[in-house]
Amino acid sequence: MSTAPIIVEAAFFAGATELSQLPPPTRVEVAFAGRSNVGKSSLINSLLNRRKLVRTSSTPGATRAINFFRVKLRSEPSDVEVDFVDLPGYGYAKRSKSERAHWGQLIDGFLKTRAGLRGVVVIVDIRRGLEQDDRALVEYLSELDLQVVIVATKIDKISRSKQKIALSDLKRATGLRIVGYSSTEGQGRDALFARMHGWLF
Ligand code: GTP
Ligand code: MG
Repeated sequence: MSTAPIIVEAAFFAGATELSQLPPPTRVEVAFAGRSNVGKSSLINSLLNRRKLVRTSSTPGATRAINFFRVKLRSEPSDVEVDFVDLPGYGYAKRSKSERAHWGQLIDGFLKTRAGLRGVVVIVDIRRGLEQDDRALVEYLSELDLQVVIVATKIDKISRSKQKIALSDLKRATGLRIVGYSSTEGQGRDALFARMHGWLF
């Protein structure tokens, strides 16, 4: 039996390319961060059981705004309304210096001002593991006292035995719990919702 909540509603709510455009921080929020093209938007679609709610792309750098998705979840006996927040990806080489600086300010401002932000899901590609930018983000999140779950996505791209090795390497490198995920096959969905349960309900 699936332990994931029922997705009662899910809809795009707001997009912000400037801090001034962020909606008021009145909701419980969970943010999704990771390198460009790692599969953040696909992961959100997979969690929400919606194929095309969040725009995905094979071209890196598709998501340039902070996008808010308002979600109603049911896990008996209660319903909750939360925002899933898709953060623009980092580490995209073709960005100019000023674009990267803007990205930094935007993310930083977001992370520091959201009263309802319960935690951040940091997504890495299981084939690449934790890279420099990811490590910097995870350290920064812990400085801000924000809770983190690491998701190793695209597990469908490698064999089971390689998945095991990569997952335990990641666990050793971070000291954090790791969830293996495939947005194309849905593996890891229950496990990730279980990890986020305390944030959401
Ligand atoms: P940006 O918004 O550009 O930062 O990218 P993103 O992190 O949101 O990635 P996105 O979800 O757009 O996915 C990038 C590419 O990876 C797309 O071609 C997806 O179809 C593919 N992809 C994402 N997740 C998975 C997965 O679990 N398995 C496989 N096989 N492909 C995936
Ligand atoms: Mg995206």
